[in-house]
Amino acid sequence: MNVPVLDLKAEFEQLRGEILPVLERVCANASFILGVEVEAFEREFADFCGTKHCVALANGTAALHLGLLALGVQPDDEVITTPNTFLATAEAISYCGAVPVFVDIDPRTANLDPRLIERAITKRTRAILPVHLYVRPVDMDAIREVAERHNLRILEDAAQAHGARYQGRRVGGLGTLAAFSFYPTKNLAAYGEAGALTTNDDQIAKFARAARSHGQTARYEHEFVGYNYRMHGFQGAVLRVKLRHLYAWTAKRQEIAREYRRLLTGARLVLPVDSSRDECVYHQFVIYTSNRNRVVAQLAARGIETVIHYPRPVHLQPAYSSLGCPPGTFPHAERACERVIGLPIHPGLTSDQIVYVANAVREIVGVE
Ligand SMILES: Cc1ncc(COP(=O)(O)O)c(C=O)c1O
Repeated sequence: MNVPVLDLKAEFEQLRGEILPVLERVCANASFILGVEVEAFEREFADFCGTKHCVALANGTAALHLGLLALGVQPDDEVITTPNTFLATAEAISYCGAVPVFVDIDPRTANLDPRLIERAITKRTRAILPVHLYVRPVDMDAIREVAERHNLRILEDAAQAHGARYQGRRVGGLGTLAAFSFYPTKNLAAYGEAGALTTNDDQIAKFARAARSHGQTARYEHEFVGYNYRMHGFQGAVLRVKLRHLYAWTAKRQEIAREYRRLLTGARLVLPVDSSRDECVYHQFVIYTSNRNRVVAQLAARGIETVIHYPRPVHLQPAYSSLGCPPGTFPHAERACERVIGLPIHPGLTSDQIVYVANAVREIVGVE
């Protein structure tokens, strides 16, 4: 049996009848950049997140970049974040001329550990950038408490957590603002690059709308030097179609995760802890094992694809060697990156495939 980590071709076949007409509509209206579909998506996604505004952008990295600029991050400022993330989180800080300051993760959740934030704060700290990694929201109350004490604002990196809830509230409206990615592999995914910022703050939304379009507040009125960070009309149209399916798709991911957890009980591996406080959306279903390469190779030999998010924490990437954080600086993040394996998870996974994957994992890692 072959089990891919996700199956975008099959998903397109399921959506073909809905997608092609909306793409045709974009062509017929010639609304290729922003336009009516993107505007409608902005309203619908803001409603989904429970925020006042959504500003549609070219990708998630642009959303992080504009989000940090909106918070006033400037050259030589420091922004606190996690080393257990995709490089883009740190890159956006660097784009502002600021410095990423990492704090280690809580190994139970793989998310930034709020108890470690305070000791990383200096006079130069401007903001906190937590990442809702894989599935679950960070512990926002604990982060907010530190942020308020030090007058810092919070930008959520929600690139992997569309629809996840913390204490009943959706990510996207938990901090001052949030950055989403709709990269084609995400739970809510475009057919190309796309991203968005969500916020309840009118000034931030106004800034982001101008900044995404060369600093324009009206046609050819450039208030400041901005960027070309606009969402394409096709992506807005695709995202509107897919947003309607996201509820059912998320429920399916949650069902698959429950099934994996049940079938993997007793296997010699570690699963992240899910809290009843959260609603997890299972962008990834990760397990932690020793001897990762052997497990991955043996799963591949049985036709089971896996993903490693991420093989190396950001502070150990050559791109950030100048920060001078040698191995051992963030032991929990480093250990997670050495041991993590993402199993196939997507709404099209069949019951047989779930059982096949779980049984293969149990056989390979052994049972306690
Ligand atoms: C945690 C995280 N942050 C930021 C990004 C960047 O998003 P994009 O690829 O849309 O620029 C991603 C997506 O890959 C991500 O997973």
